[in-house]
Amino acid sequence: MEIRQISVIGAGQMGSGIAQVAAQAGFQVTLLDVSEAFVKRGMERIARQLERGVAKGKWTAAEKDAVLSRLQPTVQLEEAAKDADMVIEAVVEKMEVKTDLFRQLDQKCPTHTILASNTSSLPITEIAAATSRPERVIGMHFMNPVPVMKLVEIIRGLATQDEVYAIVKELAEAMGKVPVEVNDFPGFVSNRVLMPMINEAIYAVYEGVAEPEAVDQVMKLGMNHPMGPLTLADFIGLDTCLYIMETLYEGFGDSKYRPCPLLRKYVKAGWLGKKSGRGFYQYEGE
Ligand code: NAI
Repeated sequence: MEIRQISVIGAGQMGSGIAQVAAQAGFQVTLLDVSEAFVKRGMERIARQLERGVAKGKWTAAEKDAVLSRLQPTVQLEEAAKDADMVIEAVVEKMEVKTDLFRQLDQKCPTHTILASNTSSLPITEIAAATSRPERVIGMHFMNPVPVMKLVEIIRGLATQDEVYAIVKELAEAMGKVPVEVNDFPGFVSNRVLMPMINEAIYAVYEGVAEPEAVDQVMKLGMNHPMGPLTLADFIGLDTCLYIMETLYEGFGDSKYRPCPLLRKYVKAGWLGKKSGRGFYQYEGE
C-alpha cells in the first residue's frame, strides 16, 4: 500500500508541525480544525516556519511555495476523510474527543485508511476500539517542535497489524524521523519518564523549595538538560501536562503520579504556558 494523501486533524502546535513535515516530505496534505480561524492560524504558523527556513538558507522560496501548494486547509471532516490513505490526529488530549473523532473517521474514510493518533499518553487500544478497524489504528507520537525533533514513538495497539506498523515506520522515516517502537501502556516511554519529572519540578515550586527559575537552572546546569522542566512544561502546554499526569495516575492507580495541585490551579486559571502567554513564565506574542 502506498501513502499519497495524508490528513492531519487538529491545526494546533503539533498538527501544524506534522502537516508541515509531511508536505515537506512530498505528501499531499489536508489540514483540518474545528473553525476557519484555527485552520488559518495553523497554516500561518507553517508559512512562518517555512519563511524562516528560506531566510536561513535551508531551502529556496520556490521550494517553500511547492510545500505550501501541497497543503490544503479545510473544516469539513468529509473533505479530509474521503481520499486519505493516512490520517494523523492531533486534537486535544481528551479521550472522549478522540474516540468521537475516530468513530467519525472510521465511518467517513475509505476502508484502507490507516488512522493514527499523536496522543501523548492515552491508550491506543481504547481509541482503536471506537472504530471497526482496530487493526489499522496506531500511535504516531511526534515530539514538539515537530520540524526539529527526530523522534517518533510508534505505539502498537493490542490489535495493530504488523503490515500497518511497517507502513507507519516507513512513513516516519520518509518524514525524516527516527521511529522507535513501544507497546501500549499509559504515557508510553517518553511521557512515563518525562512527565513525573516535570510534575516533581512543579511540586518543588508548590512546596516552596525554590523559584521556577532556580528549579530550571538546577536541571540545566546540573543535569545538562537543554531546557529546564518548567520551561519545557510551558512549551508543551500545562493543560496537556495535566491530562498526561491524569492518564498516568488513572492508568497505573499509583499515587506517585498524582498531578501537583499547583498544575491544576494554573490550568484552571487559563495559564496554559507559552500558547496562552502565561504559565510558569510570561510570554509575548508567539
Ligand atoms: P493545541 O491545543 O495546540 O491544538 C489542538 C487543536 O485541536 C486545536 O487547534 C483545537 O481547535 C483542535 N481540535 C480540538 N478538537 C478538535 C476536533 N474534534 N476536530 C478537529 N480539531 C480539533 O494542542 P497540541 O499541543 O497541538 O496537542 C495536540 C495533541 O498532540 C494532544 O493529543 C497532545 O497530547 C499531543 N502532543 C502534544 C505535544 C506537545 O508538546 N504539546 C507533544 C506530543 C504530542
